[in-house]
Amino acid sequence: AAIEYELDAPYTVEYHDSIGSTNDRARELAADGDRDVVVVADEQTGGRGRLERSWDSPPGGIWASTVLDPSLPAAHVPLVTLAAGVAVVDACRAVGVDATLKWPNDVLVDDDSEGGDVDEGDDPADDRGGRKLSGILTEMEGEADRVSWLLVGIGLNVNIAGDALPAGATSLQEQVGAVDRRAVLQTILESLSTLVADPDTVIEQWRAYSSTLGRTVRVDTGREQIEGEAVDVQFPGALVVDTDSGEQIVHAGDCEHLRPA
Ligand code: BTN
Repeated sequence: AAIEYELDAPYTVEYHDSIGSTNDRARELAADGDRDVVVVADEQTGGRGRLERSWDSPPGGIWASTVLDPSLPAAHVPLVTLAAGVAVVDACRAVGVDATLKWPNDVLVDDDSEGGDVDEGDDPADDRGGRKLSGILTEMEGEADRVSWLLVGIGLNVNIAGDALPAGATSLQEQVGAVDRRAVLQTILESLSTLVADPDTVIEQWRAYSSTLGRTVRVDTGREQIEGEAVDVQFPGALVVDTDSGEQIVHAGDCEHLRPA
């Protein structure tokens, strides 16, 4: 099968040439009590993104969902999402792509060639100064002090080019030419399994890879829009925004990069 490459992964791997959504399959496994397993597909026919968006998943990408050990408080789940972003950036940088993180977990390649960083468009994937390389969708079930299952879905545009790429997106192939998907996924999974056990490193590495910190941002929390300078990211994954009315700590939302601070 196209995707069925041998991985020396810290997780058990289940491959699919084509599947609706690896997150949906991982959900089934998670609900059955499986742990430390990753579902990988060459193509998804019903890939899901954040905020009920769909996620284009043609052959050639990495579409993977990892069922993790849920022995952590639900409040710490955002950290797992940040860890996945850091793991993806590790893998992109290992093949020479200078990817950065937009809070909380969009992986972007800065693209200054279009001139100016001000976001004028309304396509959320088309943030000025960055084209989207990867997205992460974490799902869980459980209560504050007891997560019953937890999975992290990672979509990375690897060997996809031209018309197969959605507007505002880029791929590793577009940046550096075709790369070995096996090696990229291996790096992601190794980094992820190390990072989930090491919260301090996650935050530290997230800061180092961030293109959000130091910029003027607008975060839509669903209830309000918070605008100001993104000054830090704090355990377990909150963004600290310096606004006209003081510092605000934002736990979740959709972040847009505006002009540089
Ligand atoms: C985003 O909106 O940025 C998150 C996109 C997450 C896509 C990945 S691809 C593998 C996994 N399966 C899905 O259906 N979604 C995630």
